[in-house]
Amino acid sequence: MVANNVLSAAPLNNDGLSSSNTNAPLQNSFINLDQGDTVLFESYWRKMSDECAVVIKGCELLSYVSDNASVCWFMKPELRDVIKRLHALVGNAETQDGHIVIGNGSTQLFHASLFALSSSSNSPNPINVVAASPYYSGYPDETDIVCSSLYKWSGDAKVYDKNEEYIEIVTSPNNPDGSLRRPVVNKKLGREGKLIHDLAYYWPHYTPITHKANHDLMLFTFSKCTGHSGSRIGWAIVKDMDIAKKMTRYIVMNSIGVSKESQTRAAKIMEVLCDSYDQNFKLGSKNSELFFEYSKRLIKERWEKLREVIKENGDLILPKFPGAYCNFTKESSETYPAFAWLMCKKDEDGVSYLEKELKVLARSGNRFGSGPRCTRINMLSRGDDFHEFLKRLSNIKEISY
Ligand SMILES: Cc1ncc(COP(=O)(O)O)c(C=O)c1O
Repeated sequence: MVANNVLSAAPLNNDGLSSSNTNAPLQNSFINLDQGDTVLFESYWRKMSDECAVVIKGCELLSYVSDNASVCWFMKPELRDVIKRLHALVGNAETQDGHIVIGNGSTQLFHASLFALSSSSNSPNPINVVAASPYYSGYPDETDIVCSSLYKWSGDAKVYDKNEEYIEIVTSPNNPDGSLRRPVVNKKLGREGKLIHDLAYYWPHYTPITHKANHDLMLFTFSKCTGHSGSRIGWAIVKDMDIAKKMTRYIVMNSIGVSKESQTRAAKIMEVLCDSYDQNFKLGSKNSELFFEYSKRLIKERWEKLREVIKENGDLILPKFPGAYCNFTKESSETYPAFAWLMCKKDEDGVSYLEKELKVLARSGNRFGSGPRCTRINMLSRGDDFHEFLKRLSNIKEISY
């Protein structure tokens, strides 16, 4: 059992959040750490509530169109500009030579990317879509949901050996295991395929920013950057104008654009975020903790507590991450992923272990193209849920439900 000080080192509600099930005592209920919700950041945005408020009048935002001069004509220019401003501030992606295309979350942009890349191919067969396992559990289902004749899910990029066209998804840092990644198929087959770089987690609260990413097609999402998953805003940075046009066409066919209310809110929140850094630089002030620093501190605290509890627990293993210098925070740091990828030491089913022993719902490694020994749990869940999870994990030998 873990010494109690691991859990009492910080106030119980360190994240300033209560459980999703606020009125019910958590002790005997199931805790859901399966989904990828991002509510950990809520306490920061509560402090900024007034600055981020937007008022939209009844006479505004009626048109489908935002900017006829843009490839992505339904995108509000202020959203495009603040996306570029945010990347310039953080230094995590090159936007100079790219076209920005927005979507209803990066999920819709993933579909749009598959359509655009595969419809530009001469292949008579559906293009193979691959990602190195463990891969984000959404990719296989999203790829195959419409049984497209243009593309099909073909599994783990590490074992892909067909002499056919392929699209490889490179997710870095990776969901579920937090690893930093590069394409793998080209090394094996010695020929380039088409690449989608999903950089949802390449932000300084999760990982050191070591370089400006500059790939042909990069996906980012408001969900993981600021935590506002509910606004459903994602963006792609696309070098090739034809691909950007095809992606735009897909989104038009699918939803005739993206809600302008959501675009307005996302633009405002990103503007407030950027302004707070500009203000700090101008004043030379280090007093107030800004969004990325604040969020990183919360995630890091959770990781440190989880590592201590896991060390004492003895049944589970967590991955380790190399440190690196972060060009944004100007300090060396580890990666603190949004998910913990837990492996059972014994050859045991991870989901059953967590459900039976702890009453914790997690996502099975099977869903990520890995074995059932691994499970993914959300590190950005509500404070009470996460704390209760740690408590159960530390008391595991004594709890019996
Ligand atoms: C790697 C990765 N890409 C894309 C998404 C989808 O993000 P969005 O909310 O923008 O659709 C997720 C969500 O968890 C993710 O983990």
